Amino acid sequence: MSATRDNDDILRVGAGTPMGELMRQYWLPAALSSEVAADGAPLRLMLLGEKLVAFRDSSGRVGVMDHRCPHRCASLFLGRNEENGLRCVYHGWKFDVDGNCVDMPSVPPHQDFKDKVRAKAYKATERNGLIWVYMGDQANVPPLPGVEVTLLPEQDVLTNFVQRECNFVQALEGDIDTSHFGFLHVGGLTTDDVAEDGPLYHTILDRAPEYHVMDSPWGTTYGVYRGAGKPGQTYWRFANFMFPFWTQTPQGNFPGFVHSRAWVPMDDTHTMFINMFWKGMDQRGLPLKDGTPIPGARTPFPYAPNTTDWYGRWRLEKNESNDWGIDREAMRTGKNFCGIENIHLQDQAVTESMGGITTHDFEHLGPGDQMIARTRRRLLRAARAFRETGELPPGVRDPEVFLGARSGFFICDSAIDWRDAYEMQVAAAQRPATLRAAE
Ligand code: FES
Ligand SMILES: [Fe+2]
Repeated sequence: MSATRDNDDILRVGAGTPMGELMRQYWLPAALSSEVAADGAPLRLMLLGEKLVAFRDSSGRVGVMDHRCPHRCASLFLGRNEENGLRCVYHGWKFDVDGNCVDMPSVPPHQDFKDKVRAKAYKATERNGLIWVYMGDQANVPPLPGVEVTLLPEQDVLTNFVQRECNFVQALEGDIDTSHFGFLHVGGLTTDDVAEDGPLYHTILDRAPEYHVMDSPWGTTYGVYRGAGKPGQTYWRFANFMFPFWTQTPQGNFPGFVHSRAWVPMDDTHTMFINMFWKGMDQRGLPLKDGTPIPGARTPFPYAPNTTDWYGRWRLEKNESNDWGIDREAMRTGKNFCGIENIHLQDQAVTESMGGITTHDFEHLGPGDQMIARTRRRLLRAARAFRETGELPPGVRDPEVFLGARSGFFICDSAIDWRDAYEMQVAAAQRPATLRAAE
């Protein structure tokens, strides 16, 4: 296969592309339930390169459909959301959440053919405060994914959305790229700034760690290892990629670190990041020796106001047009290695700075990029296998595989094999009470 072909097959998400078809096998978290109100304005939704509208009908049900009216393609975004349906304002045809045409008032009754017309509607549902959409075969809909944090009740989870102006692959690779943490985020700190028994000490002491990588039932997993400062003890940091776009990062105490991050492709050059974590987990973050968080850790996301544009939701104030607010003076004098405030914004800046869609032929991957290389191969193989043989990718029909994925840091006996160490931690991990009750 040529490099150009590999790039296209892994990065492009439109209908008919290998990755686009793989994505369409999964339920996609697309919006907050609170973004659409009963009989309220339709929401423009860009998903996998398709322009959709979402709306909530008078009975509270959510509909998601192609924004083009099936009559003559006027946008249903302009529609009137009334009496359990969305009415196109051009000629008054009206559609219910399933896409059925329920009224055709511009056609004489004896010529009415509403039973033969359907809007292009996708299956939509709600769970956990999110609207989920399934864009694959509408006659053969799989179960929702078993990603642990998405199974918790809405009140137990903190969720936020942030749009990123780049391809989903380069965006999510920031989460499985462990060696950048010691530079981009804490490059200005020394071991004097952090407690010797704290989670950051080892990251700062050794900024070039080694690690193991493996394929796992849900995607890929890595374990970074360093000496734990005590004889016979190893400091581990585990993280996961889960099909098709979920990640779990290592920045938390393993036993109770219930979180996941989705990188949902809006199109080839825009991604919606959805960050979800269990409120019951240890939220102390990564404190310095004096108890304060590392620089930028607690700054809230500075959002630009949402607009109704296709790309108008959940953007940040800082972006390429203002150099993500880079402060050269802080780089020179302070503890801020990269000069950009806020950890999320730091990641946003470096991945957006690569360009809307970065192909892989200009890169020089190093030993620290093993997880990225393996994840790309796993995605590519799965997308091609599905196209060529119809083999379904992980988690589509077996959503419980995601429940085996956990991440975070811990210290354990160096004699234990890394896979065994991981399994032992997962077996002993804390499960939220609401999840245990459902089992
Ligand atoms: S274009 Fe929608 S009713 Fe005519
Ligand atoms: Fe990062």
